Amino acid sequence: MASDMMVTAIRRRRKIHAGLLTATLMLWLGTTPAQADDSQHEQGRAIVRDFGMQLQTALKVALEEGGPAAAIRVCKEIAPQIASELSRQNGVKVQRTSLRVRNPANLAEPWQVEVLNAFEDAADDDAELELEHFEAGDAGQPARYAKAIRTGAMCLVCHGAAVSVDVVKLLDSEYPFDRARGYELGDIRGAFSVTWPVN
Ligand code: HEC
Repeated sequence: MASDMMVTAIRRRRKIHAGLLTATLMLWLGTTPAQADDSQHEQGRAIVRDFGMQLQTALKVALEEGGPAAAIRVCKEIAPQIASELSRQNGVKVQRTSLRVRNPANLAEPWQVEVLNAFEDAADDDAELELEHFEAGDAGQPARYAKAIRTGAMCLVCHGAAVSVDVVKLLDSEYPFDRARGYELGDIRGAFSVTWPVN
């Protein structure tokens, strides 16, 4: 598996064209990706961008209008809805996962654990670094894309170290197995992932 693992980093500030990767942190040992792989890679990026934007907007509105209780509902109900909607529209499997999940339903699959660990290794202290992974499909193995999710200021309300008593109460009742607290600004909170059906 490690041989076809590729994690790439894109500097956020310089707004580099999506096709230009500034650093290849793990060597791609396969052949040059074909045209089809490039378009899947781009599709993965677009889906994840869409997911991230929809979620951010819904979260922000819910936090402003209804506070953490309403926003928890967004994370619990709206996030999976957006994921299934995007999955259906694109004929792929769209997920959100983490090495420390709040909801066991989001538990990382073995390939996601490997990618998340590679993201952690690559992340260093540089919160500006955007990390992604793409692997082309092969006989019997699906094409996969993953993008690291950073912990922003808004996320700390429910994933930070100093979560308010009210939020803790809500989380404790809904998520008895919650491991997704104690994050700091810029930490990798998890990843979005896209998996294509095997040809
Ligand atoms: C209002 C509270 C709240 C805020 C704010 C919040 N989250 Fe969450 N987050 C949750 C809840 C609740 C879940 C569990 C959702 C579920 O049941 O699938 C969750 C789940 C997740 C997951 C899926 C993996 C897991 O742990 O189960 C990720 C990734 C995630 N959040 C990232 C973020 C990021 C990044 C932000 C900031 C942009 C953020 N969250 C802001 C409450 C919150």
